[in-house]
Amino acid sequence: MSRHKVQPQTSIFSKGYDPQRSEGAACVPVFRTSTFIFPNAAAGKRAFEIAYGLDAMKPGESPALIYTRVNNPNSEIVEDRVTCWDGAEAAALFSSGMGAISSACLSFLRPGDTLVFSDPVYGGTEYFFRHMLPGFGIRTKSFPAGSSKAEMEAMVAGDPTVKVLYIETPANPTLMQTDLRAAREVADAHAAPDSRILVMVDNTMLGPIYCRPLQHGADLVLYSATKFFGGHSDLVAGLALGSRELISRVKVTRTILGSNSDPDTAWLILRSLGTLEIRMEKQQENAIRVVDFLLRHPKVKEVAYPGLDSMGPGQADLHRRQCSGSGSLLSFRVGGGEAEAFKVLDAVREMKLAVSLGGIETLIEHPSTMTHSDMTAAEKARAGIGEDLIRVSVGLEDSEDLVADLTQALDAL
Ligand SMILES: Cc1ncc(COP(=O)(O)O)c(C=O)c1O
Repeated sequence: MSRHKVQPQTSIFSKGYDPQRSEGAACVPVFRTSTFIFPNAAAGKRAFEIAYGLDAMKPGESPALIYTRVNNPNSEIVEDRVTCWDGAEAAALFSSGMGAISSACLSFLRPGDTLVFSDPVYGGTEYFFRHMLPGFGIRTKSFPAGSSKAEMEAMVAGDPTVKVLYIETPANPTLMQTDLRAAREVADAHAAPDSRILVMVDNTMLGPIYCRPLQHGADLVLYSATKFFGGHSDLVAGLALGSRELISRVKVTRTILGSNSDPDTAWLILRSLGTLEIRMEKQQENAIRVVDFLLRHPKVKEVAYPGLDSMGPGQADLHRRQCSGSGSLLSFRVGGGEAEAFKVLDAVREMKLAVSLGGIETLIEHPSTMTHSDMTAAEKARAGIGEDLIRVSVGLEDSEDLVADLTQALDAL
């Protein structure tokens, strides 16, 4: 008899939690504690042997709780549950998306190594790559998001120092997509002998519902969990997912750098996981309505949204192969420059003028002077971040109200 396979949307309500170990509480309690009491000294010794990698875990053994910077039940339950969607062996929860990205990079890069990244990436990631990693002797170079396999290959071939291929797809804020299978093939074809080029993917924009990079050859998936996982603009967190082996190395970095999350934040994420899929679906439905409106508006010059034919050669095809939906992030150009974009931003009434994305309320912002303001003018021009570009993260408001809001805001032009 074939066994019924439980879907992620069901597993996320029970995975990783045994109510009988918490007085039968149906809802996971908040384990607000910095430290955990060992039953005896030998158990304490064993807990450290495993946590510090001094001895391998035996079959059936699991890491004991020690100290909340190392592990905590709320974080561990989030980690167990989020693996359901991406199909990962393991996950690590962080204090922010930047905590996840920086800790993952510092786990695998050493002085003399090179990281190659798709451009643009989120502004904080860009700063870390261009201004901080070089200070540790780690070189970085970039290729335009949406590059072909041959263009990616040109960045990696003949350079044995390349150890990480980092891809943000769709890219923030241009929403250009990069081919993950091609990245995997390039990484495998050009790794130095006895080493591997890790493919790391920032999947914040579409994941984990509309894109699952591990299925397309990625080694590590990274998230700003501040966005869709939290979903209510009330917390900051990050995630890394991948094989048990890679995630255990990332967790050592997290423990030592202290980039772990806290029990209250982890609990809020747990509460949000149950509605993640339904939120993303409804936000996408609203975004499609807004995109449809913008595409027809005479004052709108260009609309970027994953899957549109107008995104450029090969983009719609790639979208069909790599993603199962387009999500709720979009950007559009109004023509002119900063002054024109600001007129629209200052005129919205229902949308909120704020950075971040993936929350239940619609946020609108100006990438050139806000999220991506650290980039030089030349870098912005190369990445397609013009002064007239506006980014919208569509929320759960009534979509006709959002269209009416944009209608009156565009009238300000
Ligand atoms: C695509 C992407 N990755 C990473 C981050 C950083 O995440 P956090 O703000 O949670 O550190 C952001 C933040 O906006 C983002 O948009």
